[in-house]
Amino acid sequence: MATTGTLRDAFVDELRDSYDGEKQLIKALKKMAKAAKHEELRSAFETHLEETQGQVQRLEQVFAMLDEKVKGKHCDGIAGIIEEGASVMEEDFDDATMNACLIASGQRAEHYEMAAYGTLVAWARVLGEDEAADLLQQTLDEEKAADEKLSALAEGGINDDAAGPGEDDEMNEASSSSRSKPSRATRPRARNGASARAPQSRS
Ligand SMILES: [Fe+2]
Repeated sequence: MATTGTLRDAFVDELRDSYDGEKQLIKALKKMAKAAKHEELRSAFETHLEETQGQVQRLEQVFAMLDEKVKGKHCDGIAGIIEEGASVMEEDFDDATMNACLIASGQRAEHYEMAAYGTLVAWARVLGEDEAADLLQQTLDEEKAADEKLSALAEGGINDDAAGPGEDDEMNEASSSSRSKPSRATRPRARNGASARAPQSRS
């Protein structure tokens, strides 16, 4: 096995992986926007779809800066995340649950991309490709913002809607006594998604 590959080769390889991943996500985000049964969630997916198209162009600029051919390399990681999301979309969930599941799928993709771009920015810097690093940092910032937006939507009502009526609602709903979910008042509040700090990023 040849051992002549350098960090620059690995960097270009990762860029091609991300290029392919973004293109896969363009298709997936269209489907997710369509599947969303919540106005703000749909518009969050649509906004990120537009950003993703810009991210593809940014990667093309980076390839040009490095004098490398614009080429994708199948991104197995994003393909797996998209496949999982697609199988959830086929489930017979009620609308509110589906919205919560779409957020879960979207955040998996965002965190994968945050990890990838965090590495790309760090590698671009050590390779002295500061212009490329600046462009990749812009994308990293967009991924983080998209993740934060999904957390805000989940915590701003979508998770509660999916969990069903809480104690207050139950007082007016005698037939709901068989519900096994804990009430909204007693459920611990959990932060949606992991911490939005991407590895290796120092923005
Ligand atoms: Fe992206």
